[in-house]
Amino acid sequence: MPSGQETADRLRRVTVRLTDLTRDWPERSRNLLLGGRLGSFDGVDNLVALVTGANKGIGKEIARQLADAGLTVYVGSRDAARGEHAAGEIGGDARPLVLDVTDDVSVADAARQATTLDILINNAGISGDDKTPDQEDAGTFRRIYETNVFGVVAVTNAFLPALRRSARPAS
Ligand SMILES: NC(=O)c1ccc[n+]([C@@H]2O[C@H](COP(=O)([O-])OP(=O)(O)OC[C@H]3O[C@@H](n4cnc5c(N)ncnc54)[C@H](OP(=O)(O)O)[C@@H]3O)[C@@H](O)[C@H]2O)c1
Repeated sequence: MPSGQETADRLRRVTVRLTDLTRDWPERSRNLLLGGRLGSFDGVDNLVALVTGANKGIGKEIARQLADAGLTVYVGSRDAARGEHAAGEIGGDARPLVLDVTDDVSVADAARQATTLDILINNAGISGDDKTPDQEDAGTFRRIYETNVFGVVAVTNAFLPALRRSARPAS
């Protein structure tokens, strides 16, 4: 586990890199990503993050990096066993949290369990079958929108009370 100073330095380097990468973004978008709170990472040891869809892929890597940096990380997974397995592999203070972003009951249950939260990362998502839009049926679009659009709204709203209690909220 890195020291608090190492963690702060590492996150500062990430911020500098993000600042560089988003140089050409519109001001409003940059502020959303890099907003004042993200500019300071001192004391990250006490921060709590939730990454949805963190049992594999990009979400798992994000969770791993946050756990490595000393944060407590809820590893969101719609499947309990896959979430537990991923949290075990991530290590640090990674905690499995069953969360299907398309299921209102699952979202509410997860929000009841994770009542302290500083960072929400809406990563869970699906894509189509690599077909062109004219070859996809409407059901596939519905599934994608349920996960990638309405799921993000449901999860964000469910965890807003916890984020609002945070001294340094970010999503
Ligand atoms: N990889 C890319 O090139 C790329 C490009 C653009 C955008 N993205 C977006 O980036 C995010 C991560 O991509 P990835 O490549 O890491 O995808 P991935 O490997 O397919 O992982 C997606 C994650 O989302 C989870 N998930 C799917 N539906 C869910 C639901 N209803 N509730 C909760 N979790 C759910 C999956 O869980 P299960 O294991 O249970 O399926 C998995 O953990 C996605 O939102 C994706 O759309 C990726």
